[in-house]
Amino acid sequence: MSNHKFQCSSCAWSCESSPIILECEKCSSPLNVRYLPQTSANIQPTGWSGHTIPLPLDHQEDLITLGEGNTPVVQLNNLKSRIMADIYVKQEYMNPTGSFKDRGTSIMISALKSMKVDELVEDSSGNAGASLSAYAAMSNMTAHIFVPESAPVPKIGQIEVYGATVHKIPGTRDATTDAAKTFVHDNQLVYASHNLSPFFIEGTKIFAHEIFREFGDNIPGDIVIPVGNGSLYLGMWKGLCELKESNHISHMPRLHFVQTEAVKPIYSAAKGRSWDVSMIRETRSGGTAVGSPPRQGEVIEVLTRSNGSCVTVTEEELADWQKILAAKEGIYAEPTSATALAGAEKLVRSDSIGKNNGILVPITGSGLKDDQPK
Ligand SMILES: Cc1ncc(COP(=O)(O)O)c(C=O)c1O
Ligand SMILES: [Zn+2]
Repeated sequence: MSNHKFQCSSCAWSCESSPIILECEKCSSPLNVRYLPQTSANIQPTGWSGHTIPLPLDHQEDLITLGEGNTPVVQLNNLKSRIMADIYVKQEYMNPTGSFKDRGTSIMISALKSMKVDELVEDSSGNAGASLSAYAAMSNMTAHIFVPESAPVPKIGQIEVYGATVHKIPGTRDATTDAAKTFVHDNQLVYASHNLSPFFIEGTKIFAHEIFREFGDNIPGDIVIPVGNGSLYLGMWKGLCELKESNHISHMPRLHFVQTEAVKPIYSAAKGRSWDVSMIRETRSGGTAVGSPPRQGEVIEVLTRSNGSCVTVTEEELADWQKILAAKEGIYAEPTSATALAGAEKLVRSDSIGKNNGILVPITGSGLKDDQPK
């Protein structure tokens, strides 16, 4: 018997877990994994020892891994006076394909492979596609990755070299999603969407369990995350809730998120302002450029429950922060990741974040995968 079910994120509907069910049959909301009591199979993520982390797998051998996770945390000593607080970064770009997406991909591919899936479709601004292409290669699966034609050349090259078929789609990031969905429908394939698959968040949540191992019950009080669809933001919350429920931590950090001025659907909804995809502008922050994020409602719920705040940054601010991080701390972050630092600075300056609880920011992707800042 499986240790979990799929649960609708906004109503009571639930079903057995399946590779092809990605939304609620009653209200069309995205689904999440809900663990059944007393069926935990005690599977350990790569390199993990310590408390049990619930994972949607039945056997340790089901885990498909390239050695993701266990990324280093460093304190930014040279930038402390500029940010005016203790600031720590977790170097997610040190994951096997250069971004945090490997955490989610490992668990998603493991679950799908254990359900005998051998051909997948995904759409991505680049990082999730590269990640899926790599994990599909090492587990002998066939992958079709849809990317915006405008995705950075190094990311497209990375997807190709692992062996996936790349489909370049003109227009917006959302046009790429539509093309992938049509391809899935026409060819009756499995849509391994990092935005929709309930399994993806089960991998990103391991980030939270790792910071408990690193900080114990002194996890920094404010965590600032770049959000497109929210897979790391929501995974962080799920992992923290698991830690709180198992009495490993006594208090929850506040979860803040950052979007860009160019693409800001969740920020606008959180502030009660109108915004629609016709307002999308060009941005170098491809990872946050999701015009219609299916998990927007869940992100706003976590924002409220964690007492977090949100902010947008301009193209100039994110480029500045990409350069500052490299020149002051030796960290070459991709533009999407730099948005989180630019946002953290703004949140401190506007007093949305206190100066005394410490701030943690994931550096979600590598600057090597993107165009150089001007
Ligand atoms: C480097 C990087 N950071 C952050 C994000 C945002 O992730 P999510 O869409 O899950 O919020 C992405 C998404 O592509 C990304 O590539
Ligand atoms: Zn529902």
